[in-house]
This record gives sequence, structure tokens and C-alpha cells, in this order.
Amino acid sequence: MPDAKKQRAGRKGGQTVSKDRAHMAAIGRKGGQRSRVKRSEAPEQKENMMGSSITTAAEQRNGGAEHQSGTSDQAVEMLKADHQRVHSLFEDYETAGGEDKIAIADKIMKELEIHSTIEEEIFYPAFREKSGKQGQDMVTEALQEHQSVKTALKELKAMDSGNETFESTFLDMMHDVEHHVGEEEGEMFPLAEEVLGNGLEELGAEMQKRKHELLESLESEALH
Ligand SMILES: [Fe+2]
Ligand SMILES: [Fe+2]
Repeated sequence: MPDAKKQRAGRKGGQTVSKDRAHMAAIGRKGGQRSRVKRSEAPEQKENMMGSSITTAAEQRNGGAEHQSGTSDQAVEMLKADHQRVHSLFEDYETAGGEDKIAIADKIMKELEIHSTIEEEIFYPAFREKSGKQGQDMVTEALQEHQSVKTALKELKAMDSGNETFESTFLDMMHDVEHHVGEEEGEMFPLAEEVLGNGLEELGAEMQKRKHELLESLESEALH
């Protein structure tokens, strides 16, 4: 049984899910006290960079569409900010209903596509080059986990977003992402900070540039 499958099966057993959730709750707390905002108190809706016409509570907490491109040029900080934003969107997804829920799911999927592309094209290769066998093994596992999320994203895109199969596939994918984020933040990023040091600023700038390109290409796709 492939490792990714074992993890998936293990998580479905219950224990790992709660561990992941506890970890993500801890990540959420790192961003400081966040009060939940009722949808009725949400700011005026507007078109944002992801082409969605809703402004989510997560965006409101994170400073709006401007935050889509991140706020830090330090590579690890930038990736953590992405994780935090997706975690907040997950929380919104779980409480939203109707059209909002579909729009949030769409936004999460786009965020994940951009984030994983940046990690795979820029961050992981730079980390792997400097981190020796331990880091190489981490990257191998991370890429397997990305692949499992990508497979789920592909399935989700082919589904009718309102139905029960979509919901269960989406929730499974969310658990996989939470587990993956826990490993990146708990193991990979601390080692990356050690081995990449000052290089993280330059790497982050390169990642920001690529992120803008990917956002622009998604926006133009949305217009056609
Ligand atoms: Fe990742
Ligand atoms: Fe990540």
C-alpha cells in the first residue's frame, strides 16, 4: 500500500484527523486572536483577484484581495501566510452555505494550485539542493502528497459542486492538505530556515514574482 494511501486510511480512522485539526488550530492561533465574522457583517462585496464576486471572512481577516499575493518576501513566511489563508478559507467553507460555499471551494482550489506550483517550481528544488538526504526525503514525501491533492482537485473540477460526492471528496482533500501543511511547518520549514538562511529573501522575491504571473494567468483564463 503506498504511503499516501496508508496516511489517508489512517486519517479516516479518526485519530490522525483530530491530530491534524489540533495542529491547524495551533497554526490558526499563531496568527493571533481571530474573531469570527458573521457573513451579515461582511464588507461590501467586490470582484477580487481570483475572479470571485464574494469577499470571504478569511479575506476580511487577512486584509482583502491585496493579501492574495502575500505580504512577505521571505520564502517561508510567504508560504506560511498562504497556509494560514487557506486554513481560514477552510473554516469559512465549513460554515458557509449555498453559493458562498461553492465560491469558497473554488477559491481554495485556486489557492492550492498556485501554492503547490510555487513550491514545486521554486521552493522545493532550492530546499532539496541545500538540505541533504533528510531534506530530499521530505521533498519526495511532500511531492507524493501534492500529487494526491492534485488528483482530488481534478476529480472535484469534473464534479457538480453542489452534491454530496463533491462535499465528501472536498473534505477528504482538506484533511490531506491539513496533514501536509503540518509536516511542512513542523519539519520542512524549520530545516529550510536553517539551511537556506539569508537566501530565503531572494527565494521569496522569486516566488512572489511567479505568484503574480500565475494569478494573472488565472485571471485571464477566467475572462475567456
Ligand atoms: Fe506543499
Ligand atoms: Fe505549503
